[in-house]
Amino acid sequence: MYGLLLEAMFDALRERHGDEILEEIRVAANIEQHEFIMHDTYPEEVAIRLANAVSMATGGRVNDIMTHFGFHFVSFTSRYGYDFMLKVLGRNLRDFLNGLDSLHDYLRTSYPKLLPPSFFSENETKDGLIMHYRSKRKGYTHYVMGQIQKVAIMFYNTEVEIEMLEVDESAKGTHCVMKLHFDNRGFEHDLKQKLVRPKAPLEIKNRVLLDAFPYHIVFGRDMVIKTLGKSLMQLVKDASGKRVDHVFEMVKPPIDFTFDEVCHSAFISSIAVSRFCRCQRTPTSCSK
Ligand code: HEM
Repeated sequence: MYGLLLEAMFDALRERHGDEILEEIRVAANIEQHEFIMHDTYPEEVAIRLANAVSMATGGRVNDIMTHFGFHFVSFTSRYGYDFMLKVLGRNLRDFLNGLDSLHDYLRTSYPKLLPPSFFSENETKDGLIMHYRSKRKGYTHYVMGQIQKVAIMFYNTEVEIEMLEVDESAKGTHCVMKLHFDNRGFEHDLKQKLVRPKAPLEIKNRVLLDAFPYHIVFGRDMVIKTLGKSLMQLVKDASGKRVDHVFEMVKPPIDFTFDEVCHSAFISSIAVSRFCRCQRTPTSCSK
């Protein structure tokens, strides 16, 4: 895990409990570092050990401590000028959440080993929306809740109440569904605007559409590839007729590579990125 997150956690503790208590917690958590370098990586367990040590020292619940860490993270990153990126991520909270995957993708340029979370929102109403959070990690759902509450206050001047609907934590990571309750009246306005606009069918010929996306993959419910975009075809020859999950690997969003999951998650808001394997073995059995 990158030092940026860990240093933000230290900073949250310093601000709330002072230097002396932070030092006691650091020793109790068996953490060697007195500070973390933003762009260096550290073992994943450090954050978990830290949250547990804080809980032992203060009697607070680990979930609340993680919420506090997430809340603090947003203002912490502002010190490094990242608030400029966050301010332009969306005109409203829904667009902001849907933009987070692109933000983390972009951050790969400065954090190349980033293991990013993935978000998308759906079922928006004037009172809120449903948000899906996915991660290869476990233990960050309350952290996310704190981040969202802080973002809502800081950039949208609104309070959010978060209701956890489903949490699925397994060896594969986390998939969490949350209902975000907030004053989302702007949504009704957007909806009305859409309704008054005349509905003119947009007719685009298949060929034009497919040419416009030279890296597209078309596959059916049986997962068999029907066609590939021109540029992708140059890279992976003979893929037509093979199972898409035998030739490509789902990298982002972190979902199971099944037809239903792809339809449900990937195309609602974010782009599915797949890594392909040149050695014709299935991506999972390939060590390259
Ligand atoms: C511009 C501001 C931001 C920066 C620079 C940033 C950067 C990062 C970095 C470096 C990581 C560590 C990943 C790793 O070590 O593999 C991370 C993880 C994470 N980020 Fe961001 N991030 C930002 C904003 C946000 C916001 C606004 C949210 C949510 C509302 C968010 C949600 C998360 C979560 C939940 C994780 C880690 C846990 C997981 O794997 O799910 N980030 N971010």
